Amino acid sequence: MLDQLTIERIQSAAQITDVVSDFVTLRKRGVNYVGLCPFHEDKTPSFYVSPAKNICKCFACGEGGAPVHFIMKHEQLTYYEALKFLAKKYGIEVKEIELTDEQKQAQGDRESMFILNGFAQKIFSSNLFEHLEGKTIGLSYFKERGFREDTIKKFQLGYSLEERDAFTKQALNSGYKKEYLEKTGLSIIREDGYTIDRFRGRVIFPVHSLAGKVVAFGGRTLKKDDKTAKYVNSPESEIYHKGNELYGIYLARQAIVRHDRCFLVEGYTDVISMHQAGIENVVASSGTALTQGQIRLIHRFTSNVTVLYDGDAAGIKAAVRGIDLLLEAGLNIKVVLLPEGEDPDSFARKQNASSFIDYIKKNETDFVRFKTGLLIEDAGNDPIKKARLINEIVDTIAIIPEEIIRSVYIKECSSLLDTDERILVRAISKKRKEVAGQKIKPGQQSNDPLAENKEDIENQVRGRNRPDEFSTSTVSPSGYPFDSFEKAILHFVIRYGEQILYSTEATEDQESVSVRVAEYIIRDLEQDELKLENPTYRRILEEASERCKQEDFIAERYFLNHSDPEINRIAADLVSDKYPLSKIHSKLKKVEEEVDRLVELVPYEVLNYKDAVLKKRMDDLNYQIKSAQEQNDTEKSTKLISELSLLWQESKKLLAKHLGERIILKF
Ligand code: CTP
Ligand code: MN
Repeated sequence: MLDQLTIERIQSAAQITDVVSDFVTLRKRGVNYVGLCPFHEDKTPSFYVSPAKNICKCFACGEGGAPVHFIMKHEQLTYYEALKFLAKKYGIEVKEIELTDEQKQAQGDRESMFILNGFAQKIFSSNLFEHLEGKTIGLSYFKERGFREDTIKKFQLGYSLEERDAFTKQALNSGYKKEYLEKTGLSIIREDGYTIDRFRGRVIFPVHSLAGKVVAFGGRTLKKDDKTAKYVNSPESEIYHKGNELYGIYLARQAIVRHDRCFLVEGYTDVISMHQAGIENVVASSGTALTQGQIRLIHRFTSNVTVLYDGDAAGIKAAVRGIDLLLEAGLNIKVVLLPEGEDPDSFARKQNASSFIDYIKKNETDFVRFKTGLLIEDAGNDPIKKARLINEIVDTIAIIPEEIIRSVYIKECSSLLDTDERILVRAISKKRKEVAGQKIKPGQQSNDPLAENKEDIENQVRGRNRPDEFSTSTVSPSGYPFDSFEKAILHFVIRYGEQILYSTEATEDQESVSVRVAEYIIRDLEQDELKLENPTYRRILEEASERCKQEDFIAERYFLNHSDPEINRIAADLVSDKYPLSKIHSKLKKVEEEVDRLVELVPYEVLNYKDAVLKKRMDDLNYQIKSAQEQNDTEKSTKLISELSLLWQESKKLLAKHLGERIILKF
């Protein structure tokens, strides 16, 4: 647990651009920054960072918030964990209130697993450097492979002892629970009840997340027989999803941004040897085909990927496999085949950074050209094979999202393939239409660049179009029928909750009373026995009205830093300027600043809400009356009609009040 003072210190130190740019490459746009959203498949930058408001927000998927919430979401941490993460970044000393055993127990599984993995990494490293077995077997193996000591330390390589439960025992003796040993996969509980080490007798490659936490391990056997699997890896777990991790990303991140390029290789040793040769912008997919998650991770830092593979047949096949996915994501891909018999690891050991880069520059081919060349060689003079080949190239070009790039490829390939350009153009556009037809499901965001008006997208995705006229058929995506009206009210609660809406004049026996925005709203709703339907909104309004009299309460700051991520998210949504307000509202806004017209705007939005609720009730009543009449239930229908007439009167009063307020405000 953290004390409130520390929490506030962390919150005021954490700068949103600073925090986000550790994970997303940002470019300046006006007063804000933009980048590719880390929370969804983003092809054009939708992620906005506002230094002035100290928040970030994706206008396509809606994720974002204050620095602490960005970290919570990004690193999958709890609120307190995220605060501690930021404290570390900003060198703020964290005074933790001593945890009770109960609280320790309550700390999440994920946290416990990370802690255990950190412990394991340290044990494996110390085995390598300090234990006789580790030194003679593990360390000498790495040295033989040409890894320098600084490289070994940089990658936190280690060694797991041969004894079948050496690590398990050590962990249990240090107070770690068996449950987490099993969950992280460090230990395996056998059917006979024995708990044994997963990685016994192997050298260890820890796998780090983007933020540098150990999420998994790879263990390489040192035995030469064919019976033992060369690598054993941690299983998938709550903290390890193989498809979302890239080996080396933590150490490569900054270099990728600096060079605006990422080298992609197959294995642990390829990454390590390239680093040692001085090339740091390199990651590995760890022997499997790339996944969408991994591509997204790369795309956050660069759009340029160079794939490095062995020059043999298997290497070429591997290079072609999975690359369509990269193209589809809008990345520019180059391929470099290494000399026959070399992999990036062996090749890097014979080169230095500049000779390696030289080789890459001389030998890199654009992927589409590479594939075309490969297929041409394959097809020879066989016309049927050639037709098939053209189709394959068409498929590849068709998935490239940008039209200009497609057209460049079409030109080139038409000459490479000796085929009329127009034929390719036609085939490609046909293919694109087919694919689009398959892909677009109702409610899904289209990738048509013409639809790239951010507000349109926001409305499409979040369904936030505010109905001009209330209609019962409007179903809000939140499930609350008055969501857009409630949000319009909340907009004022969060932005201006603590502001004085008006003050009564002092009389002889009464002092002047100030009514603040949040108070006004809650009281006005209570007068009509109304409560916001959405419980989170209600909670926000209640908290604001309770606190708005406190001297240093600023609603916006309070809700943006709220420990409930849902509240924070709503606040971030409403604080960002893009939220579409009602038409009248935005017209008014043009005339004067919103903040200067609160006394008009706030009652207006509250009335608007009441009006909507009333109309809905009348609609419902009308419906009930109809069915009562159809069933000839006169008693019921009469009762309902009198209820309806009451509502009518109320609605008229509301209208009068509305008009009245307008008239008053004019003077
Ligand atoms: N791999 C794996 N399990 C295996 C084989 C391979 O997880 N049984 C993964 C590892 O991440 C490995 C990568 O695939 O790093 C590439 O495999 P390979 O080229 O065989 O391994 P290298 O890293 O090159 O290891 P070494 O040079 O020591 O053979
Ligand atoms: Mn190798």
